[in-house]
Amino acid sequence: MTDSCLLLTGASGLVGGTWLPLLLKNHPGRRVTILSRSLEHNVPSKNSLVSTIRGDLTQRDLGLATETRNALIENVTGIIHCAADIRFRLPIDQARATNTAGTKRLLTLARKCKRLEKFAHVSTVYVAGKHRGIVREQQLAEPSGFMNTYQQSKHEAEQLVFEAMGDIPASIFRLSSIISDSTGKVRQFNYFHQLLRLVPRNPLPMIPGNPGAAIDLIASDWAVSALALLYESHFVPGRVYHVCAGREASMTVKEILHRTFQIFNQSRSKPAMEPRLVSFEQFERFAKQQARKGSAPVRELLRVLREFLPHLAIPQYYENRETLALLRRAGLELPPIREYYPRVIASCLKGPANET
Ligand SMILES: NC(=O)c1ccc[n+]([C@@H]2O[C@H](COP(=O)([O-])OP(=O)(O)OC[C@H]3O[C@@H](n4cnc5c(N)ncnc54)[C@H](OP(=O)(O)O)[C@@H]3O)[C@@H](O)[C@H]2O)c1
Repeated sequence: MTDSCLLLTGASGLVGGTWLPLLLKNHPGRRVTILSRSLEHNVPSKNSLVSTIRGDLTQRDLGLATETRNALIENVTGIIHCAADIRFRLPIDQARATNTAGTKRLLTLARKCKRLEKFAHVSTVYVAGKHRGIVREQQLAEPSGFMNTYQQSKHEAEQLVFEAMGDIPASIFRLSSIISDSTGKVRQFNYFHQLLRLVPRNPLPMIPGNPGAAIDLIASDWAVSALALLYESHFVPGRVYHVCAGREASMTVKEILHRTFQIFNQSRSKPAMEPRLVSFEQFERFAKQQARKGSAPVRELLRVLREFLPHLAIPQYYENRETLALLRRAGLELPPIREYYPRVIASCLKGPANET
């Protein structure tokens, strides 16, 4: 059987953890080795074909014993790299240690693997940073800047994967923001949910936002089914795949804001006020002023949200026509965000299981 011995990173996370059962289902008999910092926690399979090795992206040689490393070099046919530190506000060195240097270490191992058929690097459409306009399914030039160190370190990681494409069969899979599963259930609470949960208190009179800009949100089950399908049946070395909703299927900033307030206000006697959408520059002036004399909660909020909010003001669209057509031909339809979004809000009202 081809591609019968996989190395998977990030199996305790949202994406890797959802993908693992599909990897096993798609190829009965396939062995999956999970590289994890912990042997005990969170690895979501008791299958005898799944084994866990202790490793750490930030350590020399991934923290692997020589024997373990040699066994991987002899046997591994596919590497799926999901692990990353997805926090936005890390110092750049810390973000790079996991996301960039970690990817470099994995690529070094991949270059040695004797039977490697596929190296799948899971990335994010936000490697486009502050780029305005269309983001293509190809290598991206360094943008004029990044919103946060996560974007920057993931952009740098991609450059390493592109460099390695001369030596190994590698492809890049860029996801947009996973908001929930397609029933609206939220497993991973991120900056977007934090923002939603603040709506009832509405502490900000304005937020930066281009009313017509699309916010690309996807459901985890759809995203991971798409990854699985692309990896198993449409893997082309050197390709970049955008696993995202795309402009037409996304809600705009204005629509999201309006719907969010509408849904929240249904259950309140005193309706929360919808903030004004202003330009990034106008918001920056407001944020600076508040940093000097705003209330403590508003100052803290602005500090936390600074890395995320400005994204709403940058019109950025992810090309995905070809990838979406591939998925549709295989019967995988994008779940309509407008249908499950109200249930996302309900999940936010109930509160987080864990936050990033
Ligand atoms: N979730 C999204 O909305 C989203 C959107 C776009 C792109 N992505 C990309 O999708 C991938 C998976 O994201 P996710 O949402 O599944 O993240 P997640 O839930 O935060 O999981 C991160 C995974 O990375 C592992 N990890 C972190 N640091 C590590 C290290 N030093 N050594 C080894 N493993 C380490 C974690 O393992 P431990 O158990 O050891 O902590 C965990 O399994 C990432 O590459 C991310 O950039 C995600």
